[in-house]
Amino acid sequence: MLDANELIMDLQQMRDEGHLSDALMRQAVRRIAKADPRFDWVGVYLLDEAENELWLHNYVGSPTEHAKIPVGTGICGMAVAEKGNIIVADVSEVENYLACDPDVQSEMVVLIRAGDEIFGQIDLDSSDKDAFTDEDEAAVAVVAEKLAEQLAAERR
Ligand code: SME
Repeated sequence: MLDANELIMDLQQMRDEGHLSDALMRQAVRRIAKADPRFDWVGVYLLDEAENELWLHNYVGSPTEHAKIPVGTGICGMAVAEKGNIIVADVSEVENYLACDPDVQSEMVVLIRAGDEIFGQIDLDSSDKDAFTDEDEAAVAVVAEKLAEQLAAERR
């Protein structure tokens, strides 16, 4: 189980030491992936508003061909288009699904956002069906909020 409070304290300490969002997003992905055996693939996609695309920033897990995903496409792109987190219990039931790895059965996307502004998302895949719970979403959302704080500070 992910201890989101411990992770955000560590991310805040990194901020206090002067680390930027790049380092924070790498640290968050590694720590989330390590936290739970259900989390087989964890990555951050960042939204490029000019291109209206998600760009893969960093990940842990099998390589993926989806380095760029147009908004509206796939579960990742749908989350941005719909401005909300998505939990998919069975990816085979989603028409719009972009497969990375044939082993993946379920997926969760949690937006990295500050209010209405969407910076990107944390994407998790599992080889278990129905792997992701509302508690997982809440824990990952706490981490996403901390990343958004740093991303927003860098845009100012
Ligand atoms: N499955 C995602 C694509 C990204 S990979 O999971 C890494 C989707 O449908 O958007």
